[in-house]
Amino acid sequence: MKKTTDNPLLDVQNLQVHFGPVSNPVRAADGVSFRIFPREIVALVGESGSGKSISALALARLVPEPGGRIIGGKIIFQGMDTLTLKRSGLRKLRGARIAYIFQEPATSLNPVFTVGWQVGEAIRLHRKGVRVKNEVEKLLTAVGLPDPKRTAGAYPHELSGGMQQRVMIAMALACDPDLLVADEPTTALDVTVQNQILDLLVELREKRGLSILLITHNLGIVANTADRIYVMNSGKIIESGDTKTVLRTPRHDYTKKLLAAVPRLHKVS
Ligand SMILES: Nc1ncnc2c1ncn2[C@@H]1O[C@H](COP(=O)(O)OP(=O)(O)O)[C@@H](O)[C@H]1O
Ligand SMILES: [Mg+2]
Repeated sequence: MKKTTDNPLLDVQNLQVHFGPVSNPVRAADGVSFRIFPREIVALVGESGSGKSISALALARLVPEPGGRIIGGKIIFQGMDTLTLKRSGLRKLRGARIAYIFQEPATSLNPVFTVGWQVGEAIRLHRKGVRVKNEVEKLLTAVGLPDPKRTAGAYPHELSGGMQQRVMIAMALACDPDLLVADEPTTALDVTVQNQILDLLVELREKRGLSILLITHNLGIVANTADRIYVMNSGKIIESGDTKTVLRTPRHDYTKKLLAAVPRLHKVS
């Protein structure tokens, strides 16, 4: 959790990402600033199309090209501006320091390879000299998959959506990242499974000291997960604060509207 003496792990300043014609661009990120401190879980919340994914992809310079372009701002990660990194630095950053998981685990996994092979491949890519099979089983255990030996031999379609997402998290952890970006990680899952995945993220923060950027359109899932919240609308951060404060006393009408879409949340403990 945040200590005032810590330096931020990530400090995004006035990020601007445009799409479309230079003369009349779509401003997907229009001066976005946010910070993540070591071991923090920070939520980026907003309606679909508000610029959350694009802001997150920009962290590792993964904005879709052609068309998308970062035209301004600074992204200071571990003290370095990622926008000035050369190719080799970028490769290291993408592989080992910032890992991503996305909404649809089924489409991110390769249907023709076993789960164990795919997690093993992620390990082989990033870490030399480890016993891959052992490491695969350790990772599958770390993400709460039962019977890791059997799971390693399974194909993705043999697993439930929740288990597939756990496999994706295992692959993300294979490179021992400092920041995990989880972009709508539970949106495709039913509610019980959603909560299990969120609990896993919290556990990984505690056990591995991971920092997490949790992206969601659903304010309901952040109450028991995130330390702080940034609310995003039309490419801008319009409100931010610690989770309880934002949920109890939202200042912006847009935040109130997001909250109203989650009736249960009116009683935040
Ligand atoms: N590949 C793309 N081509 C053109 N415009 C895009 C593309 N991806 C995103 N955008 C623009 O950026 C805006 C923000 O997108 P995105 O960050 O994906 O939103 P969110 O993740 O909040 O749903 C979109 O509303 C769209 O206008
Ligand atoms: Mg998105």
